[in-house]
Amino acid sequence: MRIMRLWLGVTWIYAGWDKATDSGFLTKGSTSFIGTQLSAYSTQSPLGTTVFNKLVEHSVQVGLFVMISEFAIGLATLLWVAPTLAAFGGFAMSVGLWLVSSFHAKPYFLASDTAYAVLWLSYFLLILGKRRRADVSINRRGIVRVGIVGALAIGAVSLGKLFSPSSNAQATGSASGDPQNKVKKLSELPVGSTANFALASGEPAILFRTKTGVFAYSAICTHEGCTVGYSATNKVLACPCHGAEFDPFDSAKVISGPTQRALTSIKVAIDGDWIVLA
Ligand code: FES
Repeated sequence: MRIMRLWLGVTWIYAGWDKATDSGFLTKGSTSFIGTQLSAYSTQSPLGTTVFNKLVEHSVQVGLFVMISEFAIGLATLLWVAPTLAAFGGFAMSVGLWLVSSFHAKPYFLASDTAYAVLWLSYFLLILGKRRRADVSINRRGIVRVGIVGALAIGAVSLGKLFSPSSNAQATGSASGDPQNKVKKLSELPVGSTANFALASGEPAILFRTKTGVFAYSAICTHEGCTVGYSATNKVLACPCHGAEFDPFDSAKVISGPTQRALTSIKVAIDGDWIVLA
């Protein structure tokens, strides 16, 4: 039980920290923006587009709620504050993430959300023990401790902003020709070659130049977010984590693997001597 508590607590805090230090997570127009992610999930989730439209409409609030909840659940678990409630919260959150993002993962065991849901549920039942009833009564001291954990969670979100690698990062897509938008010198990318680059948000991306022009994709795998790489031998973008492959010469559509979504396209153009974000 201690191992589960340690693992779940640390992982949930890390998940919150990962989002809090991502300057694009709450920035509209960024490729890692929570609203963009939710829109992408809408086509493959059983929750339906009506639910997703509502979530996208309030995506900044949803993003903040997710971050604060992750910190609060992780901290409460590690510090043994309202442990039953925290365990149930972790379980509910894992089921929610499964329904939102990884419901159609194939084979199912590649989706970590289901594994976390089972882990949280087991942990929750271990806390209940033989009581078979959740004790949610809380005394005054308990309320104070819950309040402290809540304040720590909000503080951790604010702290994450300070550690964001580019907290002033702007969303991509402003006018071409702006020096900020230069990606690479045209002369440094011969026809038939590729280059890795990073967006203002820090997100890795891959640039291609062919006889017909230039194009680029986010290098973040649409399965669970590993970084894909280009295999010149097979002419595919391949993910090292669970083997997804994407065709860069056909809109980065999925060739094989546990995801159904193409990589996110990034608009680039040739502007004089430069390749720029368009
Ligand atoms: S992260 Fe699973 S295939 Fe890419």
